[in-house]
Amino acid sequence: MTDSRRILVTAALPYANGLAHMGHLVEYIQTDIWVRFQRMLGNDCLFVCASDAHGTPIMIRARKDGIPAEEIIEHYHRRFQEDFAAFHIRFDNFGSTHSSENRELVNLIYGRLQSGGHLQSRTIRQAYDEKEGMFLPDRFVRGTCPRCGATDQYGDSCESCGATYAPSELVDPISVLSGTRPVERESEHLFFRLSEFEDELRSWASGGALQDSVRKKLDEWFETGLQDWDISRDAPYFGFEIPDLPGKYFYVWLDAPVGYMASLLNLARRRDDIDFESYWTPDSDAELYHFIGKDIVYFHALFWPGVLQAAGFRVPSAVFAHGFLTVNGEKMSKSRGTFITAETYLQHLEPQCLRYYYASKLGPGVEDIDLNLDDFVLKVNADLVGKVVNIASRCAGFITRLADGHMSAALPEPALHDQFVAGAVQVAESYETRHFSRAMRQIMALADRANQYIDQHKPWLMAKEDGRETEVQAVCTQGLNAFRALVIMLKPVLPGLARAAERFLGENEWRWTDIEQPLLGRRIEKFKPLLQRVDPKAVAAMLEASRATMENTRPSTPSTEELMDEITIDEFRRLELRVARVSKAETVDGADKLLRLTLDLGDGQRQVLAGIRSAYQPESLADRLVVVVANLEPRKMRFGTSEGMILAAGPGGEDIFLLSPDSGAVPGMRVS
Ligand code: MSP
Ligand code: ZN
Repeated sequence: MTDSRRILVTAALPYANGLAHMGHLVEYIQTDIWVRFQRMLGNDCLFVCASDAHGTPIMIRARKDGIPAEEIIEHYHRRFQEDFAAFHIRFDNFGSTHSSENRELVNLIYGRLQSGGHLQSRTIRQAYDEKEGMFLPDRFVRGTCPRCGATDQYGDSCESCGATYAPSELVDPISVLSGTRPVERESEHLFFRLSEFEDELRSWASGGALQDSVRKKLDEWFETGLQDWDISRDAPYFGFEIPDLPGKYFYVWLDAPVGYMASLLNLARRRDDIDFESYWTPDSDAELYHFIGKDIVYFHALFWPGVLQAAGFRVPSAVFAHGFLTVNGEKMSKSRGTFITAETYLQHLEPQCLRYYYASKLGPGVEDIDLNLDDFVLKVNADLVGKVVNIASRCAGFITRLADGHMSAALPEPALHDQFVAGAVQVAESYETRHFSRAMRQIMALADRANQYIDQHKPWLMAKEDGRETEVQAVCTQGLNAFRALVIMLKPVLPGLARAAERFLGENEWRWTDIEQPLLGRRIEKFKPLLQRVDPKAVAAMLEASRATMENTRPSTPSTEELMDEITIDEFRRLELRVARVSKAETVDGADKLLRLTLDLGDGQRQVLAGIRSAYQPESLADRLVVVVANLEPRKMRFGTSEGMILAAGPGGEDIFLLSPDSGAVPGMRVS
């Protein structure tokens, strides 16, 4: 293997005033797949993201709802973490732009821009809403297009004729906040002199950092001439106040990309093995990649590298832009039920199915991608269930029945295995270059090859004849090795399924190179179906549920109760929290999320069903101390009665952390 690379990857920071939806997931899933692939190769790859907490919309929401902006962003921050974890999107850190690290770095960068002479103060005229007492961003002014006369157009451009203009040019402008006619007011703003960096940006843009179509777009922008960039906003604003300019704030798009750095800094302060500085010096040996949607290219391919250069930092190795998601061929629509949030999807469908579907559609370019729900059902069922998982279910039973669970000691057809090893080289190349759809096609072609092999040898017929057990065992060992190679190749896309397959085959976490050596002579676990077919009814139910939630609620406004849900101190006192020792932990047949725990509370045993299977192997829990809610009313579940609840922290998935008390705790002890 070549030397391990040091890579820092980011995905764009989601605005913390709405739930994650299918469109966002295109990006976070794409990035997560690439990162997981790099890690399987053994590269040192960090993946950071954060909530984008600042800006006018969040400030206005807070004003309208009468709650502090901090509460809104905190609420969505938690929701993002839960949703992303459920989709197996595993950030090394998910920070927030409203953090002390970000403030620190923004101030540092501001200082460097100032002292380098890269900022200029200028007075501008801007639309002002006298009723609301605030300046209006262009999008908050609507009116009649000065060019074509179309009514109700945005303050910056006309959707009807495509004209762009200033809000002051609109005929009969109104403020969308108050419905009053805005006036013009003067205000002093700070501008970043982007054009000073034109030469550097031009050479960076032509040096392989950008996709072709993005580079062409930049060429157009260079031709039109780079405009200085207004990085300040007037109060009221939710953001960071500019240190020496009271009442003025940094524009959200100045501090948002700095949030990438801040998220890494936040992580580095908790982890000794991460040297923050070494990622940002101009001569850094680390690679830096930003995954983004095509709508925010200007910010990432001009402003951000410009600011980085001006502040004396390195520039990104590359910016990878992707296209926009359509659902059933159209823009996501609330009334058609195709504005699907991550949460609604999760209530009806398996997250990894979406990961696979997106992977099967994604390429390295900026073309839009379509989530066609009929195609989704067909593809997941045909490829994952019909082709891949099917191989294991066709082979495992015979190994268990005829060979006492043991695979044979040699492969009957090593040449077939070699085809998979060679195929994996191509698949790796496809992942590396973000040709995910090609990677999926290559993997499915190999899956077809494996199924042909099994069809040829028909182990189910051989098994009926006496004395052919060894042959059946050999064919099924070959089959299971094909399955294993396929799942290793799919692991960046289907991490949960891969984990279950690792357990089924009795192996540790697979690396990419594990494909090379076949698994022989090994005792396997009893096979359990690794993935259920997608039921078209579940898809229909999801669309119906999306339509219903969108109609009945203002989508992204949590009520104060939802945000705060306080309990009184007396209610808290009623909780009986006690230390318990896990005396037994076992899996629960038919419930892949649960573990059955037998807990010793010092005064007797209890059974608790805990939804922590995704994070813990039962063996690892024996003798572990946990905190348990001891006076919870016993609850009858499908799998037995649960007599209490254990406490854990984390967003879910593989990240569920049990709070084990410091040593010295003994079962029965009260927690207060
Ligand atoms: N907060 C900014 C990004 C700041 S990065 C320093 C932002 N937030 S966003 O929530 O609107 O979008 C987050 C990412 O999701 C962006 O890269 C955006 O392009 C992507 N997508 C949002 N909707 C999308 C689709 N419908 N389809 C594909 N990607 C989409 O922009
Ligand atoms: Zn117009």
